[in-house]
Amino acid sequence: MKVVTILALLSAFIAVSSAGNVVCYFTSWTIYREGDGTFAAKDVDPTLCTHILYAFVGLAWDATVKILDDWEITGLDELNHLISLKEQNPNLKIILSMGGWNEGSYQYSQVAADPSLRATMIDSVISFLKENGFDGFDLDWEYPGQRGGADDDPQNYITWLGELKAALNAEGYILSAAVSGGVGSMDISYPDGKAISDNLDMINVMTYDYHGDWEKWVGHNAPLYASHLDEGDNAVLNVAAGIQHWIDNGADPKKINIGLGTYGRTFTLANASNTELYAPVYGTGEQGPYTQEAGMLGYNEICALYSDWEETWDDEQKVPHKVNGDQWVGYDDVKSIQLKIEFANEMGLGGAMVWSLDTDDFLGKCGEKYPLMKAINQNLK
Ligand SMILES: *[C@@H]1O[C@H](CO)[C@@H](O)[C@H](O)[C@H]1NC(C)=O
Repeated sequence: MKVVTILALLSAFIAVSSAGNVVCYFTSWTIYREGDGTFAAKDVDPTLCTHILYAFVGLAWDATVKILDDWEITGLDELNHLISLKEQNPNLKIILSMGGWNEGSYQYSQVAADPSLRATMIDSVISFLKENGFDGFDLDWEYPGQRGGADDDPQNYITWLGELKAALNAEGYILSAAVSGGVGSMDISYPDGKAISDNLDMINVMTYDYHGDWEKWVGHNAPLYASHLDEGDNAVLNVAAGIQHWIDNGADPKKINIGLGTYGRTFTLANASNTELYAPVYGTGEQGPYTQEAGMLGYNEICALYSDWEETWDDEQKVPHKVNGDQWVGYDDVKSIQLKIEFANEMGLGGAMVWSLDTDDFLGKCGEKYPLMKAINQNLK
């Protein structure tokens, strides 16, 4: 009896004293990258995350779970490899994430608006979680009321989350959602931040992608604060303003995870001598050998392959960028991640969400393995 009480007290103490959430996205498609870019479930360090989110499954026309890459699951057995990481960290939760940018918004809007499709979707999700050994579900609809969505999406979204949360929690599963960190986008998609917060266990705010090659001038992917060069709406395109807007709209800070990117967004400068914010650009920066996507580079590429590029620290935005000739990349490093985690601590947030594990320096090509993930874990309160 006494031993039981002591153990109960001890585990309660550990639960209270342990640091916040470290929610890590695992992206299924990175197993097909080449050379040192290849990233599979075996490359995950399961001690650096409290939650791993499998990205992504889709939403089928009939509102059931849609497998997006059958070979990755049935041929390469990656879902089982991912779930078995729990053997190395029994506290680790593995979460199924549905949606993402490429899924668009239309089908989510259709399901959100229809009670019977919502019910089908929820049944299908719970069956999928049970069959595959997941611990929860993450909805990544980008975004209600945008990109092919409808005007009544924001209200239907809250109804959908409420039904999902009730059904999932009843089975012992948690519900999280990825939501926009842009103030303008929030005002369209999530006007009632409190209702969203009430109907989620965790709110993963995507406080990145503030600037990129869709603009005609240089801007940083994820500034912590505004620059004096920011004017008008651009002055709120930063991490601090995004998180503050969620809290102002009624979200519970303890449910909010600050979004952190392990990548940078790139530009080709119009004039290699003009490297300031808002300098004119020709377009996207050149692709890297691992990520092979024009307009972005992984931190693992930036630190190991572009170590000779000239680095500058922006002390207003609290983020670094690198320039080489006409190539410009704004990204996060150990120092900027540390400052963002200190901000999250000061705001009393629940923790951090990371997009994504595969572009941290997971092989330790620039020093210790997983420098960005370690910076998060060492500083989060
Ligand atoms: C390129 O930028 C530099 C630095 O801002 C400036 O002095 C120069 O006039 C620019 N060149 C052209 C062709 O615009």
